[in-house]
Amino acid sequence: MPQLVTTIAGIREKIAAARAAGKNVGLVPTMGALHEGHISLVREARKECGCVVVSIFVNPAQFGAGEDFDKYPRPLEKDVQLCDEAGADLIFAPSAGEMYPEGFATFVEPDKPLAAKLCGAGRPGHFRGVDTVVLKLLNICTPDAAYFGQKDYQQSVVIRRMVADLNLGTQVVVCATVREKDGLAMSSRNAYLNPQERTQAVCLYEALLDAKTAIETEKITDAALVKKRMADIIDKVPAARIDYIEIVDPESLAPLEELSGKVVAVLAVFLGPARLIDNMILNAP
Ligand code: PAF
Repeated sequence: MPQLVTTIAGIREKIAAARAAGKNVGLVPTMGALHEGHISLVREARKECGCVVVSIFVNPAQFGAGEDFDKYPRPLEKDVQLCDEAGADLIFAPSAGEMYPEGFATFVEPDKPLAAKLCGAGRPGHFRGVDTVVLKLLNICTPDAAYFGQKDYQQSVVIRRMVADLNLGTQVVVCATVREKDGLAMSSRNAYLNPQERTQAVCLYEALLDAKTAIETEKITDAALVKKRMADIIDKVPAARIDYIEIVDPESLAPLEELSGKVVAVLAVFLGPARLIDNMILNAP
C-alpha cells in the first residue's frame, strides 16, 4: 500500500528519504476521483521513476463561484486502492488549510493570451488557481518529472509555460488521453452524467473524429468550415450546449483561420450538469 501523507513536512521527509536512497521522483498531480486516465499517468511515472508520488487535492483556488467544488467527488479510500494497484509509493493528500493557511496571499498569474481564452474565458481565474497549486506541489515535492493528461490540453500548455518561464527544473510529461470504449474521454466529471447523457456525451469524440477526417483525409484548410461541421454534430444532441469549438496553434493556443501543419481541435460542451472538454492533435496539409 502507498503511504498516505497529509502534511507538507511529512511528504518532504518521505521524498528526502527516497532521494537519499538514490531514487528519482515522479509526481502525478490529481484532484482524486481517479480513473484509468490518472492511472495511466501513474503507470508512466512508475516506468521512469524510483519514487512515485500521487497528489490528491481538490484545489479550491481553481474553482469559480457556483462551480462544482462542493460536489466534486472525493472517494479517498477507493483512490488509495487504485494508487496501490498502479504502483504508487506515496499519496500526498493535504487539507485546504495545509495548502492555503490563514494569510495566504500569493498567486501565479498566467498571461492572458494563454489563460483567458478557451476554458479560461468561461472560467476566469481557473488557470491562476491551477498554476498556483501546481507550483506549490512542484516546490513541495521537487519532482524530476510531473505527469499530466492531454485531455486538459490548455492546462498542459499553461503548466509547461509556467515551468519554462519560472525556470523550474521539473520535466513536464503529457500523456495521451485515455478513452472509454465509445471514445468519450475519461474524466472524473463523467460521473455527473445520467445514463442518457452518458450515451450522448460521445458527440464530443465524434466531432473530433469528423475534424480529423475533414483536415487529414479531405485536406480542408478552412478552419471555419471544420468548426461548422463539428458544431453540427454537437447540435444534433438537443441537451448539449457548445461552450467553445476552436482549432488552435499547439503552443500559443491562438485560434487559426487557415490550417497548416500541426493543429489542435479543442472543444467544451455543457451536457446536463457537466461541462465536458476534449481535444485532438491533427496534422493539416
Ligand atoms: O488536472 C487536474 O486534476 C488539476 O487541474 C491539477 C493539475 C491536479 C491541479 O489541481
